[in-house]
Amino acid sequence: MPMDTEHRLDATEIKACCALTYQSDAARLLLGDSFHPGGIRLTEHLGALLHLEPGQRVLDVASGQGRSAIALAQRYSCQVLGIEYGAEAVQQATQAAVEANIAHLVTFQQGDAEHLPVPDNHFDAVICECAFCTFPDKTTAAAEFQRVLKPAGQLGLSDLTRTDEIPEDLQGLLAWIACIADAQPVDAYVRYLTEAGLTITMLENHDAALQEMVQQIQGKLLGAELLQRLQKIKLPASFDLEQAKKLARAAKAAIQANTFGYIALLASKVN
Ligand SMILES: C[S@@+](CC[C@H](N)C(=O)[O-])C[C@H]1O[C@@H](n2cnc3c(N)ncnc32)[C@H](O)[C@@H]1O
Repeated sequence: MPMDTEHRLDATEIKACCALTYQSDAARLLLGDSFHPGGIRLTEHLGALLHLEPGQRVLDVASGQGRSAIALAQRYSCQVLGIEYGAEAVQQATQAAVEANIAHLVTFQQGDAEHLPVPDNHFDAVICECAFCTFPDKTTAAAEFQRVLKPAGQLGLSDLTRTDEIPEDLQGLLAWIACIADAQPVDAYVRYLTEAGLTITMLENHDAALQEMVQQIQGKLLGAELLQRLQKIKLPASFDLEQAKKLARAAKAAIQANTFGYIALLASKVN
C-alpha cells in the first residue's frame, strides 16, 4: 500500500479516517453535498447511460451524503439503497431523503464496500462515484459489485485516474483520503473489473470536471481563509488550511500535467 512510513495505516484505519473526513463540516464547506467531480450532472448522466427505469433496484456504493442516491430516485423513480462506511454520513443522508420527500424510494445503511450487506444477484444497477480508488482491497470490492448485480445488470463507476507515478507532495495521508494517493491508471480499473467477471461497455473522459472541481476548492479555501481572518468563521481545529491549500495546488499542477484525470465507465455482468 503506497503510504509513507510515518503514516502507515491499516485498511480499517484508512476507511474510518476517510469516512470521518467526508462527513465533516470542512468537507461540506469545500465540496458542497456531492463529493465527486461533475457533481449531480455527472450522476444523472450515468443514470441515463444505465437506462435507469422506475422500480429498478439501484445500489450506490460509498454513498457519502446521499446526494447521488436521492437525485437518481427523484429523476428515475428507481429504488436506491446507499451503502456508506461512515455512520454519521448515513444519518445525514437519511435525513436528507426525508427532507426531500423521497424516503419511500431511497434508504441508506452503514456498510463496507468490501463486504456489502446485501444479497447476491439483487440489483439492476450499481453506481460507485469517486470512491473505488479509496478502497484498500479493490479486488474484493470489484468482486462485490459483480456478486450483487443481477445477470445483465450494469455498473456505472466514475473515478480519479493517474498516468504517472503520483508526485511526492500528493502521497501523504490527506492525499490518500482525498482519493488522490491511490488513484489508478485507467487500465488498472479495467483490469480489476474485468477480473471480477464484468465486461467494460463504455469509457468516457471527464478530466474537465476534475479541473473545475479543484478550481472551485481553491476558491473556497481562499474564501475560508479570508473569513477566518475576518473572524467570521472558525474552522474546525482538525482542519489544516495550509496543508489543504498545498494539496490543492499540487493537485492542480498534476491535473495540468495530465498526471490526474477523471473517467466514467459502464461495465455489465454477463451471467
Ligand atoms: C469522495 S467520497 C464520495 C461520496 C459519494 N459517492 C459522492 O460522490 O458524493 C468517498 C466516500 O467513500 C466512503 N468510503 C470509503 N471507504 C469505504 C468503504 N470501504 N465502504 C463504504 N464506503 C466507503 C467515504 O466514507 C466517503 O463517503
